[in-house]
Amino acid sequence: MTTSLSYYEQVGGAPAVRTVVDGFYVRVLDDADLRPYFAGVDMPRLKRHMVVLLCSVLGGPEPYEGRDLAEAHRGMGITAEHYAKVGEHLLSVLREAGVGDEILQHVVLTLNKVESSIVAEPAETAD
Ligand code: HEM
Repeated sequence: MTTSLSYYEQVGGAPAVRTVVDGFYVRVLDDADLRPYFAGVDMPRLKRHMVVLLCSVLGGPEPYEGRDLAEAHRGMGITAEHYAKVGEHLLSVLREAGVGDEILQHVVLTLNKVESSIVAEPAETAD
């Protein structure tokens, strides 16, 4: 009999997600374009919320208790370019942690879905 593991289980559960999120914010804060957004932010709290959010995106059991993403990022003036950079940092860290393509694709789709809640000036779309 085969049992299918959730993405959350495949990556190694909450401990693995915590490691990814730590590495993610190291990269983000190391990026001169992104660092200013985080001045004065309670990073331990932000990390906790990001860990739980990423766990739930991967199918984990933890309920996300942070603010709604649109509310949390309102008024920051986040550009589409900076959003893309943050997404790249997250994907790089996941890749370095050995996360497979199927899960990476799922994260990319999720990032695309939430972009309009976070970005203040959405990129021009040719439709
Ligand atoms: C890529 C997708 C993103 C996700 C999934 C995400 C997720 C989150 C989460 C879960 C929180 C915590 C909300 C809370 O504490 O209630 C947060 C806060 C924050 N995010 Fe993001 N974020 C993203 C993109 C960005 C980008 C692109 C920037 C800036 C370039 C950014 C800057 C911030 C800052 C500064 C806070 C702290 C707000 C505060 O505590 O006042 N985020 N984000």
